Amino acid sequence: MAEQESSEYGKADFVLLDCLTAEEFLANLRVRFEKNRIYTYIGEVVVSVNPYQQIDLYGKDMIEHYKGRELYERPPHLYAIADAAYKAMKRRAKDTCIVISGESGSGKTEASKYIMQYIAAITNPGQRVEVESVKNTLLKSNCILEAFGNAKTNRNDNSSRFGKYMDINFDFKGDPTGGHINNYLLEKSRVIVQQAGERNFHSFYQLLQGGSDDMLQGLYLQRDASEYAFTKDGMTAATGTNDKANFKIVMNAMQVLGFSEEEITAIYKVLATILHLGNLTFDTEGDTALVSNGRLLSQIAEVTMTETDSVRKTLLHRTVATGGGDVIEKAHTYREALYGRDAFAKAIYERLFCWIVERINAVIAVKGYDPRVHGKNTVIGVLDIYGFEIFDSNSFEQFCINYCNEKLQQLFIELILRQEQAEYQREGIEWQHVDYFNNQIIVDLVEQPHKGIISILDEACMTVGKVTDTMLVDTMDAKLGKHAHYTSRKLAPTEKDMEFNKHFRIKHYAGQVTYAVDGFIDKNKDNLYQDFKRLMYNSVNPVLKDMWPEGEMSITEVTKRPLTAATLFRSSMIALVVNLECKEPYYVRCIKPNDQKSPVLFDYERCRHQVEYLGLLENVRVRRAGFAYRQPYHRFLLRYKMTCEYTWPNHLMPTDAEAVRAIIDQHGFQQDVAYGKTKIFIRTPQTLFELETERAEKFPFIVLFLQKIWRGTLARKRCRGMRAVYTIMTHYKTYKVKAYLMEIMKRFQNVRSMSDYGKSVVWPTPPTVLVPFDENMKYLFRRWRARQIVKNIAPSDMPQIKAKIAAMDSFLGRRQDWGVQRSWERDYLSSAKDNPEMMSQYVTAMNRLKLKERFNSVLFSAHVRKINRFNKCEDRAILITDQYLYKLDPAKCYKNMKTLPLTLVTGLSVTDGRDQLIIFHTRGNDDLVVCLQGNANRVGEVVGVLANHFTNHNLPLLVKVCNPVQCQMRGRQRTVLVEMRIEQTDPDFKKNRTGFTLYWSGI
Ligand SMILES: Nc1ncnc2c1ncn2[C@@H]1O[C@H](COP(=O)(O)OP(=O)(O)OP(=O)(O)O)[C@@H](O)[C@H]1O
Ligand SMILES: [Mg+2]
Repeated sequence: MAEQESSEYGKADFVLLDCLTAEEFLANLRVRFEKNRIYTYIGEVVVSVNPYQQIDLYGKDMIEHYKGRELYERPPHLYAIADAAYKAMKRRAKDTCIVISGESGSGKTEASKYIMQYIAAITNPGQRVEVESVKNTLLKSNCILEAFGNAKTNRNDNSSRFGKYMDINFDFKGDPTGGHINNYLLEKSRVIVQQAGERNFHSFYQLLQGGSDDMLQGLYLQRDASEYAFTKDGMTAATGTNDKANFKIVMNAMQVLGFSEEEITAIYKVLATILHLGNLTFDTEGDTALVSNGRLLSQIAEVTMTETDSVRKTLLHRTVATGGGDVIEKAHTYREALYGRDAFAKAIYERLFCWIVERINAVIAVKGYDPRVHGKNTVIGVLDIYGFEIFDSNSFEQFCINYCNEKLQQLFIELILRQEQAEYQREGIEWQHVDYFNNQIIVDLVEQPHKGIISILDEACMTVGKVTDTMLVDTMDAKLGKHAHYTSRKLAPTEKDMEFNKHFRIKHYAGQVTYAVDGFIDKNKDNLYQDFKRLMYNSVNPVLKDMWPEGEMSITEVTKRPLTAATLFRSSMIALVVNLECKEPYYVRCIKPNDQKSPVLFDYERCRHQVEYLGLLENVRVRRAGFAYRQPYHRFLLRYKMTCEYTWPNHLMPTDAEAVRAIIDQHGFQQDVAYGKTKIFIRTPQTLFELETERAEKFPFIVLFLQKIWRGTLARKRCRGMRAVYTIMTHYKTYKVKAYLMEIMKRFQNVRSMSDYGKSVVWPTPPTVLVPFDENMKYLFRRWRARQIVKNIAPSDMPQIKAKIAAMDSFLGRRQDWGVQRSWERDYLSSAKDNPEMMSQYVTAMNRLKLKERFNSVLFSAHVRKINRFNKCEDRAILITDQYLYKLDPAKCYKNMKTLPLTLVTGLSVTDGRDQLIIFHTRGNDDLVVCLQGNANRVGEVVGVLANHFTNHNLPLLVKVCNPVQCQMRGRQRTVLVEMRIEQTDPDFKKNRTGFTLYWSGI
């Protein structure tokens, strides 16, 4: 029920007619035709009237206008139906088909092209290269098929002389992935003869007009089509087609589709062969035939790449296998030779056409389709098949074509009229039955096994002996005489327009058609002598050979009788109907407004007839009374439950039907629906449209809601996971800590009783968390161990120990040999062992000093060798007390030579060797350089006691370990170097350039 058109254009949908009569219907059709509104709906069926002029209806803007729109949102158009079929396929993953019917010249092929163009234009928004290529090949295949399968007839300058059903395959995204073409019954008799005013297939004229001079020469052809018997009659027929330009277009299309050069050449060779065959004439010699133009024969042989003799033999003889397995050659009579030639010409053209279709199919076939990756493979089928034909003289072809239309009408009735009404009944919807003519009876008349016309025809063909066409009429009269839709002159002697034994008449749903029976048997048998098949099979050209695989069979091979043309056609029609039945159908009903191809003439009678036989009025009636849309309750609910508060997200009502009622009530659509047993029926599409709109509006919220829930779920899941991880981590850490502590306890269990108090125990590696703890433990352990060791030291040893520790801290490992093993006795000069001779002198001197200076304790005393102010060596003694460092002269009863307060001492320097050099650095830059006498290693002791003393008094003492040693003597920088000498008994200083060298015994 299209809107948006003002009333001056009539009703856009016949359903809206005020009064449904044929007159009103036709008046509306006429108004619309005259106003260039060539499309009108009957619900979802498009009625299209051929405008016979270009109307600006198919531009890019139009495509945009219809894209994604509902049928009733825009004025009626083929695009709208194409979009509906596409949407249905995409939304519900349903296969759909668009059936285009109408008589010759009503615009079926044009419509099918517009539909294909529309589908190509709206798909592949992502511009994927492979999809673009599929679309291109699908569109390009059309012009090849038209070149070879279309011809100018008296009714249509570009009449399709074959039936075509094309499947377009789509992937789950709705992009085309390929396709397949089925072709039906090519009118091959046109190859050899055309009615007055008609032409042969376009391909012949295109070759002659468009082929280059070289090409024509190579095929022995002349450009003038009137030179050829098969095309010369057509030369008088004026056409609007430009054969020369079309040749280029077709050639380009074949190249785009990937036809090889060899294949394209072979195609034109077949056409040339046919043209030559047409000019081939025969003479008679006695009973047999002879070829009168031999040159032509060799040209045919050359073009087909066969032997001239074989061609001649094949044209003039046939090989017959005798019962005993022998083979004999039988010469043709003149008539047989002519018959053979024509049959050959027709057969190779038909074979060529089928080969081209198959070749195109190979190119457009869906490749690499994996349903797991690409989803369900859905299909839109487009059927453009010959319309009902009533000619002055109707032959076998018209019989087949009209039978085809009966079948399609039956499908239409089945789907649109019968099933629809049956469904209302089944669902218990109140319904006034609409009467329509069911043409099943005519379909049966033609196709019923044993009794139907095709069966009778086949029987006649199988009967051995001569069965004439006349006898066929007799048989039919006998068998079908009582059938209401069959008659003949004999059955109805008053019908003078039929001749006795020549005509029979079928009362088709679309009108009465009188068929002339002559040629029926022959066309049905469709005989081609085997020899021709072998001839082509033996061609050197691989493409031609490929077209005739059955030529391989030996003549003696017993073959099944080939199926007759009518039986083959019937099977293909039944298969077609089965194929269409399982798809969701969309109809385009084409009407031819006049026979003059005039854009302004509305031939009322012609149109009335078409409207009648297309059953359009019944269609409107059923539609008017019926419902545009239906769906099982639960499906309806699933789709629209979000538009009603009682049903979203789930309803609490006892049945889905009640929930659906709640939705309808909430929207106030009660007047527009009916409730069936399992389905809801909606009368007008607007209702559905409003529901769809509301659904679309609700969608963002639903999506947000779902996102919210889903995000929450995800976050909770993640959180649970994290918690689990932390729990595991905590337990693991506890375990590691426990294990570590247990190990510590195990290892240190007995340290108290160990001689080294556990020094040798290896500490286990702590877990990271316990590293600081480990350090503390180690510290505590060391302290404990120290405590254990210190505990056992006698108090008298303590000063010595402290001094040793102080020495150790001062050396920091820089001097290996510092006498730690020795007992440190400090005041060596008062030792009888160390200083036996002068001990008493020293003690006296020291006591005197003590009295005078009041020091508390002696830190160290020893004999030394020192450098005096004249840079000479002197033997002296040093006494270090807790306050001073005294320089004493042993030679003068240890007279005090110099007193140095310890507070002036800033540091000590020793070497890292075994020598006993020690330098006391002082504040006055007058350092004391001495070398302890004797072999005892006491340097360490001096460093230790002084360091300990300084530490106790919080004074700094810098201890340097180096060799040579830098010092200041009376303000001057001096270097003291220690050198070992084997022969040196006593240490001795020697002056050198920069200071002094202390020679030290190497022992
Ligand atoms: N929509 C249209 N716009 C303009 N011209 C059209 C349209 N439809 C058909 N015609 C004209 O009518 C002619 C016949 O149309 P078309 O070939 O589609 O008929 P057909 O129904 O396929 O006939 P046949 O059964 O003989 O194949 C076209 O060549 C074209 O000139
Ligand atoms: Mg056509």
